Amino acid sequence: MSKTIFILNGPNLNLLGKRQPEIYGADTLDDVETRCRALATSLGFQIELFQSNHEGVIIDTIQRAREEAAAIVINPGAFTHTSVAILDALNAYDGLVFECHISNVHKRESFRHHSFVSGRADGVMAGFGVEGYELCVRRACSLLSK
Ligand code: DQA
Repeated sequence: MSKTIFILNGPNLNLLGKRQPEIYGADTLDDVETRCRALATSLGFQIELFQSNHEGVIIDTIQRAREEAAAIVINPGAFTHTSVAILDALNAYDGLVFECHISNVHKRESFRHHSFVSGRADGVMAGFGVEGYELCVRRACSLLSK
């Protein structure tokens, strides 16, 4: 079984640390990658972190995960609330899926309350800041180690 976990990030998450820090915090995606890699390594796994502003690129990466990753942690950004195509790609993936939102989407505008991805996800994280990514990685490693 693959020991790799993909961490996928959708639109605008390349601006993490600069974008609305009052909502998303001061840490960058590089910081997230460093911490998740250290955690995964300590648990005997590896991560690959991706970010794209383009829906098709995210779908291509989910399709690649079919061959290369045992779990996906995905923060689809605004595509969470719009993309049936990302849901379809995740439905064609057999591994574990964790949906991760930095902010508590349920406390925000009503258009953020619906997620197309949640119905496929094995777990959903929202409002734990960037620590949520590490919590998802920890959970994925724990389930994959059983
Ligand atoms: C987000 C929440 C989404 O509603 C928003 O569009 C994002 C980030 C989060 O991590 O809290 O881009 O997924």
